[in-house]
Formats: sequence, structure tokens, C-alpha cells
Amino acid sequence: MKTNAIYSGNCARGVKVVPHPIPYQGSKRQLAPRILGLVEHRRFRRLYEPFSGSAAITLAAARLNVADEYVLGDSLKPLIDVWNAILAAPENLANDYAEIWSGQVGDSIGHYNRVRDDFNATGNPAKLLYLLARCVKNSPRFNQDGMFNQSPDRRRRGKAPSRMRRDILGASALLCGRTLVRLGDFTTTMADATPADIVYLDPPYEGVTTGHNRRYYQGLERRRLVSALESLVRRGVPFVLSYDGRCGGRAYGQPLSENLGIARLELNAGRSTQATLNGRSEQTIESLYVPKWFLRSRDTRTTLVSAA
Ligand SMILES: C[S@@+](CC[C@H](N)C(=O)[O-])C[C@H]1O[C@@H](n2cnc3c(N)ncnc32)[C@H](O)[C@@H]1O
Repeated sequence: MKTNAIYSGNCARGVKVVPHPIPYQGSKRQLAPRILGLVEHRRFRRLYEPFSGSAAITLAAARLNVADEYVLGDSLKPLIDVWNAILAAPENLANDYAEIWSGQVGDSIGHYNRVRDDFNATGNPAKLLYLLARCVKNSPRFNQDGMFNQSPDRRRRGKAPSRMRRDILGASALLCGRTLVRLGDFTTTMADATPADIVYLDPPYEGVTTGHNRRYYQGLERRRLVSALESLVRRGVPFVLSYDGRCGGRAYGQPLSENLGIARLELNAGRSTQATLNGRSEQTIESLYVPKWFLRSRDTRTTLVSAA
């Protein structure tokens, strides 16, 4: 489904700290300034984020005024409902979250499990926000039937309601009046992107999209991604794609072929926390892909990204 309604409300652009209301493993929050270093030399009509998740790139880009409008899309309906609530009724969402979070007193694990059952029955967005804030590593997991099955983190209670309220209201003010929210497949979300726009893609990489405990409720076949990239290259739409990478000697995901008309850059994402926990010091390197012509059109020496 494609929508064209732009929410209005209490807009505020000059925020100092980028708000980040949705806790989401794999969020590009830390990397956003460096990824945006590839595009912030230009002003775009729209920035599309069709695999938005917590929309870290959109929020950071809106703070930098990279584009006139922003298009957020995801195929996970309750997550898109969270974004719609952030834009249309931020106070209600913050209140609902505070009420659910406060119900944790006493049997907090039992409370989490009841909220999870309710969420699986209703898809309620405030309940999803609480589950994401409280679950292990802020990392959603879904079973084969699409039911949220991640366990609660036993050491943390999840983001406090006061901080959540600040981030919900902050994101709402930053995005209001210039953001479209679209539920659906990434191809539909970016179907109307033009050469005046920029698309940032952060799909689930192969390896987290199959098997019993899928990280995202929906996987993405590589051939579908490749055909979407071919379409963007053909249409002359600038894009930046995060896909595969490596940590220490291990690779995750298979690199994409440069025959697609794309160039691969490497971004040093810093020390891997998981490796550090296991007593190893390893850097995580993430691949970024851009159309070759887009790379030629700018001076990449100004970014912290280097061509591989
Ligand atoms: C790696 S996460 C994106 C994280 C995001 N960059 C952030 O900063 O939080 C991938 C997202 O893509 C969504 N997704 C998976 N398959 C999709 C599809 N075919 N179309 C649109 N969204 C999809 C998932 O629900 C998930 O939110």
C-alpha cells in the first residue's frame, strides 16, 4: 500500500540530539553520520528508506536537512503502525508505552509474556514498542507463523518512559509536515523514486532471513534485491545500500557483483561488541554500495568510507 498523506503537528527542526524512539538491533544510529557523509553534499527532493526499521538514517538526515521530504517504509505492519502513531498521535503513544512499562512492577517476566501474547493477538504498536525495548538485545525474533517469540532481557527493564516520551515527541517534531509512511514491500515504497531523490536500503542480509529463528519476520531473496537495484540503476535513482560485511575472518552475506553498475565501499563500523565479549578484538567492516556514476560525481575523499 502506498500512501501520500503528510502528517502535520508540532514541528521543530533545530534539534541538537537526533531522537531515536525505536530500540532496534541492527539500527544504523551510530553509523548514520558516516553513511550520510556520502550524500550530504547534495540536497534531494526526497529521501526514501524502504527498510526503515528504527529509521536511523531518516532521522539523522532530517536533522541535517538532506531532503525536502522523507518516505519511511517497512513491510512489518505493527512497526509501521508505530511510525504512524509517532507522527499522528505521539502523546497517546508515549502514554500507552508508559502504562505498559509501569505494569512491570513485581512479576516483570510474567508481564512481558502477557504483553507478548497480547501483541501477537492484536498487533498493538505500543506493545511492540515495549517488547522491542525490553527484549534480549532489542532484537525482534519471529517464529515460522510470524509470531514474536523473543525472550525478555532479565537484567534490564527497557527504556524508561520519560526517555521514550522525549524521543517519540522529538522524532515526531523533526519529521512532521514532511514525511510519508508506507506499509509494504520495499519495491512498492520506492516505486516513485526519481533521479532527484536518494534511496537508502538496509535489507535483512542473507543468513538472517531463513531458518527457525529468523531475525526479521520476513526474509528477502537476493534475486529480488538484485532486480530492484537494476531498476534503480536504469532509472538513474541515486542510492546507498548496506548489505554484506565481515568481522575478523568471518564474512556475513555474499558481496554483490559490480556488473550491476554499482561500486562497493567499505565502512569500518568499529570494534565488534560480541567479539569483545568473547575475548577477541575484531573490527566489523560493512559494505556499502552506490551506483558507479554517483561515486564519480563526487569527491569521496571527504568521507570516512573508502573504496574497497
Ligand atoms: C536491517 S533492518 C533495517 C534497520 C534500519 N536500518 C535501522 O536503522 O533500524 C531491515 C528491515 O526491513 C524490513 N523488511 C524485511 N523485508 C522487507 C521487504 N521485503 N520490504 C520492506 N521491508 C522489509 C524488516 O521488517 C526490518 O525492519
